Amino acid sequence: MAGITDQPFRQLCCQLGAGLAVSEMVSSNPKVWNTEKSKLRMIHDPAAGIRSVQIAGSCPDELAFAAKINADSGAQIIDINMGCPAKKVNKKLAGSALLKEPALVEQIVQAVVKAVDIPVTLKIRTGWCEDTRNGIEIAKIAEHSGIASLAVHGRTRNDFYKGNAEYDTIKAIKAAISIPVVANGDITSPEKALQVLKHTGADAIMIGRGAQGRPWIFREINHFLTTGNKMLAPTLAEVRVIVLAHVMELHQFYGDFKGVMIARKHVSWYVQNLAETSDGFSAMFNLEQGKAFRAIFNGLASPDEQLATLNNFFDDFANGRY
Ligand SMILES: Cc1cc2nc3c(=O)[nH]c(=O)nc-3n(C[C@H](O)[C@H](O)[C@H](O)COP(=O)(O)O)c2cc1C
Repeated sequence: MAGITDQPFRQLCCQLGAGLAVSEMVSSNPKVWNTEKSKLRMIHDPAAGIRSVQIAGSCPDELAFAAKINADSGAQIIDINMGCPAKKVNKKLAGSALLKEPALVEQIVQAVVKAVDIPVTLKIRTGWCEDTRNGIEIAKIAEHSGIASLAVHGRTRNDFYKGNAEYDTIKAIKAAISIPVVANGDITSPEKALQVLKHTGADAIMIGRGAQGRPWIFREINHFLTTGNKMLAPTLAEVRVIVLAHVMELHQFYGDFKGVMIARKHVSWYVQNLAETSDGFSAMFNLEQGKAFRAIFNGLASPDEQLATLNNFFDDFANGRY
């Protein structure tokens, strides 16, 4: 996820039970690879689990070249983005706009598969819009072109993130092809994970927003799927260790200035999650208090201030001062 699944977050998700965490998308256009943003996205560290690098673009040769460069620099899987709904991406015929161009999808997939010796996976939506929901057609192209597994977000591009994800199309896609299918969209709990797996028959599930501020969701789902029992929510002490370590990693990975900025959004999600959903904590800490804390935290400009403020926050929390 662009802006979210950077190396520190992927590492954390894998430590907490994710089987695979895919990189933020990297443009296939080599002209932008020299920017700070792309350089950070193209660091492939083994600590963040299996190194799957997502590439986005529309030119088969360019995507093939990007795949090769990333494979040569350590990627173990190349993932192709055909799901992004952003206008600035779609107007270049990249991301989900490709779903309107099955012939080009075939050229891209075949070129990328041919360019590398590692598995190539594909991420799609169910189609461009309700009237042209061609996920099955794209899935068949993917299968016969050598794609190793297909992740499907149960919305069309025109849905953006609105409404609820639907799983009937994912089920139909799973039934139509024999490569592994990964179901994605609105999975935010162990129960929902089981329900989606059962409904679609998918081989795996993919979690996006449900992991924001709650990276332990992966181990909770694993536990539920393997034992049928709900795992206890992490203790406050454990959440404290996770959040502080995550923030310190961000400071280190991005440097002080950018690290502080990126930490703000993750801390905001953690705090919102504590106030809203995390079992037990919401009784001690409400949304208004969460909002007040976030306003203070977002005004802090140095790594040391962020860490000290978080330590005070967790001390106050632990001592019942919230
Ligand atoms: C901020 C944001 C950035 C995203 N970036 C990407 C991306 O770079 N590549 C991709 O395949 N999907 C991306 N997605 C889509 C997610 O991977 C996922 O398909 C979608 O959010 C639905 O799953 P969820 O309900 O579990 O979040 C992004 C989603 C969000 C909200």
